[in-house]
Amino acid sequence: MNQVAEPTSRHRLPGNKMRVTKDDPKGLYKLFHCDCMSWIDGQKENSVDAIVTDPPYAVQEYEISELDKLREGRGGIWRIPPSFDGAKRQALPRFSIINDDAAARQAFSNFFEAWGRKALRILKPGGHIIIASTQLLSDCLGRALRDAGFERRGELVRLVSTLRGGDRPKGAEKEFSGLSVTPRSGWEPWGIYRKPLSEKTVAQNLRKWGTGALRRPEDDTPFVDVVSIGRTPKDERILAGHPSQKPLELMEILVRAAVPNPKGLLVEPFLGSGVTVAAAEYLGIRSIGIERDDVFYKAAVSSIPKLVAYLRKRSTKKMG
Ligand SMILES: C[S@@+](CC[C@H](N)C(=O)[O-])C[C@H]1O[C@@H](n2cnc3c(N)ncnc32)[C@H](O)[C@@H]1O
Repeated sequence: MNQVAEPTSRHRLPGNKMRVTKDDPKGLYKLFHCDCMSWIDGQKENSVDAIVTDPPYAVQEYEISELDKLREGRGGIWRIPPSFDGAKRQALPRFSIINDDAAARQAFSNFFEAWGRKALRILKPGGHIIIASTQLLSDCLGRALRDAGFERRGELVRLVSTLRGGDRPKGAEKEFSGLSVTPRSGWEPWGIYRKPLSEKTVAQNLRKWGTGALRRPEDDTPFVDVVSIGRTPKDERILAGHPSQKPLELMEILVRAAVPNPKGLLVEPFLGSGVTVAAAEYLGIRSIGIERDDVFYKAAVSSIPKLVAYLRKRSTKKMG
């Protein structure tokens, strides 16, 4: 089983060109419609301050064939929950499909090791990656990134109740009514990795590259590794509508922390709806987003300005 497919013709633009948005010339961000692997290859060494990203957890759920099944509303790796009380619930990938298959786990590790090596080259020494994962695969992801040359610097826990896990044994729910096969997940892991420093100390590295440390939310408060930010609010989902959309509040916290130099450049190679780029734009941080799927790319182009406007409006309300 090989999930790490080369980009298909639907992932590629005619002539394999990258499409770049020109929609918001005043904005601090740029979007690219292409595969992030080829985009990274085209970048200069030591040119990026940080990567904050939410990649496909298991890689295969965002392959064209799986996205087609999701859009048609039938099966594949996506579990489409039945409507509840008239409300349509969000589809979730079945991570157990990859977790239970050694060849699939190996392909997953190979993908992230190859991706990590590429990311390592373009990050400045001391540049951070903050990367979403899942309990079932964060061990493989961490190992792949270490093998690619990154230092593990910790893991941020996002407390969030999900619908994953906690079920009784299938087909014998009554017989084993007091058991759960796996824990019901109440948190989401975000790995924190750093490209090794080029200088002897963090201070020297910060002076030379502007990277090596995490920005504090306030001078007297360190960046902490537990945040309690629940599911993406409905009004944000209406603005963007991606199946894996993260909350803006969370992305603001991560983006601020990852880019200590206010003039630094942030990259989100797996853009999705564009929330990471919207958070960076709101914070006044330069950013680049890359998305390979046609539908999601076009959606992000129109959603990002709306998400930024939403954040600005929210902050005016808070101040008022
Ligand atoms: C988990 S989603 C990101 C969701 C995003 N954080 C949000 O809040 O909307 C991952 C995204 O990466 C895209 N993607 C997958 N493989 C890619 C690749 N090789 N290059 C660029 N984008 C890719 C998928 O199409 C999907 O939209």
